[in-house]
Amino acid sequence: MKRTLHPSARKRRRPAIPTPPVISPGEFAGQVAVVTGGSDGLGRHLVQTLVNLGADVFFCASTRAKGEAVARALGRRAHFVQADLRDNDAARAFVQQAAGFKGRIDYLVNNAAIDPRISFERATVEDFDRLMAVNLRPLFVVTQAALPALLRGTGRAVVNIATTNYLLGLAPFTLYNASKAGGVGFTRSLARELGPRGIRVNAVSPGWIMTKKQRREHATPRDRAELLKAQALKFLLTEEQVTPLTLFLLSRCAGGITGQNMVVDGGKFMQ
Ligand SMILES: NC(=O)c1ccc[n+]([C@@H]2O[C@H](COP(=O)([O-])OP(=O)(O)OC[C@H]3O[C@@H](n4cnc5c(N)ncnc54)[C@H](OP(=O)(O)O)[C@@H]3O)[C@@H](O)[C@H]2O)c1
Repeated sequence: MKRTLHPSARKRRRPAIPTPPVISPGEFAGQVAVVTGGSDGLGRHLVQTLVNLGADVFFCASTRAKGEAVARALGRRAHFVQADLRDNDAARAFVQQAAGFKGRIDYLVNNAAIDPRISFERATVEDFDRLMAVNLRPLFVVTQAALPALLRGTGRAVVNIATTNYLLGLAPFTLYNASKAGGVGFTRSLARELGPRGIRVNAVSPGWIMTKKQRREHATPRDRAELLKAQALKFLLTEEQVTPLTLFLLSRCAGGITGQNMVVDGGKFMQ
């Protein structure tokens, strides 16, 4: 005999709508992250945040003393490996140390770069080669070396740090922007190649970020005033605004996002 249910009981039996993933601080705990160029600026802030969230973070830099000091300050989950990324073998050895720690890598952030101001007319082939060797070639060498361990991981996300500078065509950054635009092209095609294997690859393009180094060496009071004028948001950005976007793209929250280049610049460049 067919039973009729009271309307309130019918309501209770309806399948619950599953909660979509939201970034939970616990998501990064126990994971293994690799960050290139983590001893200063944006990379350092990201390493620090991931460590605070309970991840083990392997980071490299070419200067040993500074990297070791950062690792000491951040505690046992921060693992510094001295590696000049221009040296392919050193770059691969850095990745192997991270992969050997738990047998897997969950996240890779290709962050290291140099941003010399060089006018096109004065630039030499050596300048060009140096920029590509630090800013572009390691995306290939480090990511390829990390791939087997990334495929064994659960995070399965790569973020490449680009810049809005190339989108705006700023000068004198022709060589720098060639390297950064190359990184975005690399990101898109790699996302297509690795998507079927469950690896997401995205880029983060920061605007001008007032790291200690930028404030000390580059951003004059006039530059800062002009930047504020050009931005929709009337405050100068720091690492604090960039790290959350990178974490978002690494997280399960961004599980459907790959091959994208996301801008964090206070609304100066609008796509
Ligand atoms: N700050 C900004 O306004 C801004 C804006 C847009 C995009 N970005 C991008 O954001 C990323 C970080 O920039 P940042 O301003 O934080 O830079 P930063 O303060 O100069 O730090 C760069 C990091 O990369 C390391 N590094 C440089 N050359 C290396 C090499 N050959 N091998 C290994 N490590 C190397 C540095 O350590 P060592 O010097 O010891 O090697 C340092 O840890 C870069 O990709 C940059 O292009 C920055």
